[in-house]
Amino acid sequence: MLRCTRETLPDSAFASAASSTRFVAILSIMPSVFIKTYGCQMNERDSEAVAAQLVAKGYTLAATEATADVILLNTCSVRDMAEQKAIGKMQNLAAEVRKNRPDVVLGFMGCMAQSRGQQLIDKLPDVDLVIGTQKFHRTADYLDDIFAGKRDKIVDTAEEQGSEATIKEHILSGNSTDKSVTGFVSIMQGCNQYCTFCIVPYTRGEERSRSIAGIVEECRELVQRGVKEITLLGQIVTSYGKRDIPVKDGKSAFVQLLEAVHEIDGLERVRFTSPHPKGYGDDLVDAYGRLPKLVESAHIPVQSGSDRLLKLMHRGYTRERFLSIIKKLRSVRPEMGITTDIIVGFPGETETDFEETLSLAREVAFDNAYIFKYSPRKDTPAAEMPDQVPQPEKEERNARLLELVNSIAAGRYENYVGRQVEILVEGPSKTNSARMMGRTRTNKIVLFDGSQRHRGEIMDVKITRTGSFTLYGDPAILM
Ligand code: 5AD
Repeated sequence: MLRCTRETLPDSAFASAASSTRFVAILSIMPSVFIKTYGCQMNERDSEAVAAQLVAKGYTLAATEATADVILLNTCSVRDMAEQKAIGKMQNLAAEVRKNRPDVVLGFMGCMAQSRGQQLIDKLPDVDLVIGTQKFHRTADYLDDIFAGKRDKIVDTAEEQGSEATIKEHILSGNSTDKSVTGFVSIMQGCNQYCTFCIVPYTRGEERSRSIAGIVEECRELVQRGVKEITLLGQIVTSYGKRDIPVKDGKSAFVQLLEAVHEIDGLERVRFTSPHPKGYGDDLVDAYGRLPKLVESAHIPVQSGSDRLLKLMHRGYTRERFLSIIKKLRSVRPEMGITTDIIVGFPGETETDFEETLSLAREVAFDNAYIFKYSPRKDTPAAEMPDQVPQPEKEERNARLLELVNSIAAGRYENYVGRQVEILVEGPSKTNSARMMGRTRTNKIVLFDGSQRHRGEIMDVKITRTGSFTLYGDPAILM
């Protein structure tokens, strides 16, 4: 098989490449890579770091898969549908892209790569590379090996001590027309909660946290490069540093981290996702009162409004505790924009349980809720629980909850009309590049007729109307 390879291969790799049957020609251009990401913001962040690590090694980034020498799918395992999508995509790549360009390298990374490993190659023999969640930082080395003809197929899903601190490189543009305004920083990896529905502890491993100093250094560098808003990322950020950083003056390790990041000069806003209600202590609520850069926005997954189900899910809190967190947050910051995740059709969910979820959604009045139909995951306790809910019932509950959530959210968006709000301008709108897009502190998208020169600026706009989960701002006030 023909593989294009690098002009700048190290001597040892060159020697090995030259003797390889795969090695045919050295092209003067570096291989280009396209990464397609499925799933959560952590996955997006992992892909960005891998891309930056590849660029640092001399690889280039392809604008589309059609021109890429390497196509990597960074996968999600949270629901079966996400896995099926990635598998379908790879089948497609094998059938279409490989047919015309047999030397393209195909790989899986991330959660599904971790949980399925070698099985993926057994099922899809066109796949060359399978990289687990603790091995993202090895991607460039493994591609070097493949291009050098040293190795044919590579599967690495091993655990690696210290891997939580390997996701730190960023792709940032300093160019004024596409300057990065927001940055995402991974503060920890893994999860110890073992919710009965969730595959994450098995795909991401035990909770491991980075040091405060390492995170602050990364944030500071981002700010120096023009970033104004940082989102701290982790599976359960409220568990950050629990094992290694002692509580100080009543402040958890996570609150200590927030304070340290908050001190960075030039940083305008701090966000984080996702906290767990169990770890949402008063010290964190207090932090909202003390730290002005901490914006009025919280994504707090509730999953269900029924105590019976919360227990079966192994969530570690009650409906009442969740409601008390919301109340406290709104007493400190009345504007607080609150979003959540909810699962419908968890095993054993009765109409009564579901109605408790509906009533909780009404009581909290979420700004948005991401609703998931329960999907049984391999080796998780809920998959073996009795009384699995039939699909039509899941669909029906999903539709009812969605309608309620949407109508409440529409009202909350409507409340903005006529008001002046602070936005951070991120850049042109993704759907209409003639418009600019900014975000309120409460995490709502605002579209307005501004220009590129507003990019990265904090400004006030007057809201004139709403669309679906979108606000429209009046540009007149900008002049
Ligand atoms: N089925 C459906 N939804 C799930 N989630 C996690 N596991 C499952 C599952 N097995 C949802 C939860 C979580 C979000 C990221 O995905 O609501 O908060």
